[in-house]
Amino acid sequence: MSTSISGFSKLTKSEKIDWIVTNYLSNSSTAKETIVQYFNEDKKLQQLHDEFIENTISNYYLPFGVAPNFLINGKTYAIPMAIEESSVVAAASKAAKFWMDRGGFKTTVISTTKIGQVHFIYAGDFNVLTAFFKNVKSQLIADAKPITRNMEKRGGGILDIELRNKTEAINGYYQLHATFETLDAMGANFINSCLEQFAKTFKTEAKKQRNVSIEIIMSILSNYVPDCLVRAEVSCKVEALKDKHIPAETFAQKFVQAVAIAEVEPYRAVTHNKGIMNGIDAVVLATGNDFRAVEAGVHAYASKDGKYTSLTHAKIENGIFTFWMEIPLALGTVGGLTNLHPLVKVALDILGKPTAKELMQIVAVAGLAQNFGALRSLTTTGIQEGHMKMHLMNILNQFEATTTEKETIVNHFKTNIVTHSAVVSEIEKLRR
Ligand code: MEV
Repeated sequence: MSTSISGFSKLTKSEKIDWIVTNYLSNSSTAKETIVQYFNEDKKLQQLHDEFIENTISNYYLPFGVAPNFLINGKTYAIPMAIEESSVVAAASKAAKFWMDRGGFKTTVISTTKIGQVHFIYAGDFNVLTAFFKNVKSQLIADAKPITRNMEKRGGGILDIELRNKTEAINGYYQLHATFETLDAMGANFINSCLEQFAKTFKTEAKKQRNVSIEIIMSILSNYVPDCLVRAEVSCKVEALKDKHIPAETFAQKFVQAVAIAEVEPYRAVTHNKGIMNGIDAVVLATGNDFRAVEAGVHAYASKDGKYTSLTHAKIENGIFTFWMEIPLALGTVGGLTNLHPLVKVALDILGKPTAKELMQIVAVAGLAQNFGALRSLTTTGIQEGHMKMHLMNILNQFEATTTEKETIVNHFKTNIVTHSAVVSEIEKLRR
């Protein structure tokens, strides 16, 4: 079936729902009910959500959970997480508690520089372009003053603009490669506005001053931010890694091996890093940041040396186990959704209204903790034991189990291994 429409965005919300239901949904009455069920009764709140994007027909909920007991640089945090995967918050909480008893997480922000580029084509002499750029650079910055003034007052702004010659890759291709400090803002709008102003001045002045023509292809920030970098680390004596499943020394060695495998084997590295992103994305989302930007930047960073590799590293030296990660994170705690979404405001409040730098550290810790939790399970009990325990509730919900049924079955699986078929057979037994 292919049903198209023009002017969809002009329809009312109710008309949009009716159109979708009639043209695309097989069971129209239940589908409409499901869509409408997610409306919020609070009209103002609903309108706020409707206006985040175009063509809103409903709300899409994700669980909003909290992982407490994160000791970071001596301060205790409860970390808000928005995520649907059953085991993530539980694993984060467990790892937090584990490290709280062993000195907690240590973090440092290494750098906070963000990048944007004006991509352009120029067919003339490179020396002419270089001389023109040197001449016009201060004007590029001056013309952007109306955009940068407020940011500068707070200590941020444009750090530098370079001319980059990319003609070896594409004929006539050059860039204005600009660096920015955007403080507590993620800075996408600020950077893009500056870049579009640079492009305008650059093109106009090239014509005026040198009578040369510049073709601007595009002006856009980069989500690759290798100089907006944070480090998170945990360490303790090997013997402090005692675990009921395995001797401390064996655990430490297996753990370091597991990380080494992810360092050399891309198939493993992707899954390993996915586990890190379970923690990172959940906090990024809960705090109203752009998880797609973070994902893109982090994976690019994981392949910065030409091969995709692990984001975390681990070692044992002189009887000390150390596990750490350096990761690029461009985050904001002002602007964007942070001022708009009521739950985002609550999330930032839970974190004590952090600066962007603090948030970088908290998010990195959530990633490191998640990776620790995953590797701890993988190298000891295997992942399924804990994972299936958490997944149990999803299976019970699929079977629409009552509260009493849930209680009985959860109790049963405290001492039995959870598998899908074992759960089904318990439900059937109970209902017989
Ligand atoms: C599942 O969402 C994440 C893991 O696969 C991560 C890993 O394998 O390290 C458990």
